[in-house]
Order: sequence, then structure tokens, then C-alpha cells
Amino acid sequence: MIGQIAVGVAASFLVWAYMSLKPPPSRVCGTPGGPPVTSPRIKLSDGRYLAYKEAGVSKEKAKHKVILIHGFDTSKDLNFPVPQDIIEELGIYFLSFDRAGYGDSDPYPSRSVKSEAYDIQELADKLEIGSKFYVIGFSMGGYPAWSCLRYIPHRLLGAALVVPFVHYWWPCLPAELAKQAFRKLLPQDQWTFRVAHYAPWLFNWWMTQKWFHSLSLLEGNMSILCSQDLEMVKKLSSKPNPGQEKIRQQGLYESLYRDIMAGYAQWEFDPADIPDLFPNKEGSVHIWQGCEDRIIPFEINRFIAKKLPWIQYHEVPNAGHMMMFDPKVCESIVRELLPAE
Ligand SMILES: *[C@@H]1O[C@H](CO)[C@@H](O)[C@H](O)[C@H]1NC(C)=O
Repeated sequence: MIGQIAVGVAASFLVWAYMSLKPPPSRVCGTPGGPPVTSPRIKLSDGRYLAYKEAGVSKEKAKHKVILIHGFDTSKDLNFPVPQDIIEELGIYFLSFDRAGYGDSDPYPSRSVKSEAYDIQELADKLEIGSKFYVIGFSMGGYPAWSCLRYIPHRLLGAALVVPFVHYWWPCLPAELAKQAFRKLLPQDQWTFRVAHYAPWLFNWWMTQKWFHSLSLLEGNMSILCSQDLEMVKKLSSKPNPGQEKIRQQGLYESLYRDIMAGYAQWEFDPADIPDLFPNKEGSVHIWQGCEDRIIPFEINRFIAKKLPWIQYHEVPNAGHMMMFDPKVCESIVRELLPAE
């Protein structure tokens, strides 16, 4: 009798553990039960679809073609408010896309740092924007930008990494520096990144359980934002921001959770080993960091920029993580990246 009860309890525990570890089924765009496809898409060579959006001057008239890589919990409808007259003056064509699993782009269970660069390359080729182009990666979109620097450097005219993602387990980081920067994060965010890095199989459970706090921003806890960021959030929330409802429509797991797991997985390369893309100065690579940013501690990007002297490092005083929504900063980013004629 006691044996049967024990077996029953053990079996229920296993079922419960299995259910909470297993990610929920995704709701793929354009499949029965899934959301409808409402954006133009290209078909990648592995059969996945990637949704995109074009903006700025037309592809035919453009002097500069720039691929924008969105961050965490945003999409191709990201807000990068470069003033219209600057777009016209410099002749910029912007191409943005939903990274795998976000918006209208198919989920990709094998998604990795590396796959992001190849998605970008195929997108550029399918849309025939030319053999070379610029990329700008924002925040979490910093890891796909690093991936481009590493895997498709021959396709780049230049790159900007804006308040870019940092990986606390990059081998080039001195242990003390990594620890010090990591400890500046909220403990619950530290745990979230640890689970993603060391135990990705546990990540779905971690993000959905109610016993411990997980990622602060997803819980609506704003204490990681500096005062400049809070002000910007307030300013932005008063304006309409179309497309937001589509970001997570295929499920949190395929969009947000997998993004964190891909970023914090072990990388196949160390950014500090990337050779100078433009030894003859025919292009440039930039990192933009806000001094007050508490989501991305400046210590790490400052260190990487010192290690890679061919990167132009811009530390913006009195600016937080949300400085990418400041039109003046946006103007500086494109002016530094794109040569004026
Ligand atoms: C937000 O998180 C911090 C650190 O984990 C905590 O001290 C604070 O009480 C939280 N705030 C809210 C509103 O939950």
C-alpha cells in the first residue's frame, strides 16, 4: 500500500516536472490556430519564413542600406527615430526584420548566435540590397551584430552596436571585472541569466514558476531603469507604437525565452578575437554605451572596446539604456556610421 502511494507520488511529481520543464507548443504564424501572417516575408533556404519591413528612402534611390537588428521584446516595428531630414540628406534605406520566433517570423528551435548572422545575410540577398550593407544592433540585437562581425564580415560596410548585449561568460573578460559588473544587476536577473547559461533545459520552468522572482522587467519591476530611462518610458508610452501586439504572438517561449537562451549560451567565438574588419579604414565599427545604463553595465563594453582598438567607442554621458529613442543620439549614430558625400 505504502509502496503504491510512493510510486503514485513519484509519478505525479515526474509528470509535473515534465510539464513545467517542457516548453508550451508554439502558435506558428499562418498555421491553423496560429495568428495570421500580416507582414511581407522571405523564405529562407531551410524553409523558415522571416518577416521584414522597409523604411526610409527607397532601395533604388538609397545611398546607404542599413539593416536594423531589434532587441529583446521588440520587433521589426522598432522605434529608431532618426529625424526625417537626416534620412533624406544621407539617403538611408532601412531594412528591419523580426528575429526568429518574434512577430511574424517562424520560430527556430536551433536558433543560436551564429544562425542570426546567416539569417541577416539571407535576408539581404533575398531583398537584393547588394553585396555589402551596414548593420545596427540594438541592446539584445547586439549579439546578432557581433555574429555579423564574426561570420559575415565580408558583407559589411560598417556596424554600430547600440547599448549592446554583453555576455558575462566571455572568456576574454577578467573574472573580477565580469563578477563586479554582474553583481550590479538585480539578483533575480542574475539568476535568470545563470539559468539560461548553465541550465537552459530549466529555463522554461524558471520563467514560468511563481516561487522566485525571475526577469525583473518582465515582471513589471522597473527598478533596473535609471531616472533617464524612466523618463523616456513615460514619454514613449504617451505615443502610439503600432505593431507591439504582434511581438510575442507566437508564444513567450519562442520569442523572448529562446532569445535569452541563445544569447547566453556558450559562444563559439570570443569577441576579443575578431580581427579588424577595416584595416584600410574603408568602414567603421562603433559601440554606443550610456553612462547611466543599468541594464548593460558600461564596464564590460568599455573593456571590449579597449581590447579592440579598431572599434570606435562612444560613451554618452547622462544617458541610459533608452538613449536609442532619443532623436539626437540616433542622428549621431547614423552620422558616425555612414560616410557623408
Ligand atoms: C523590484 O526588485 C527589487 C530587487 O529585486 C526589489 O527590491 C523591489 O522591491 C522590487 N520592486 C517591486 C515593485 O516589486
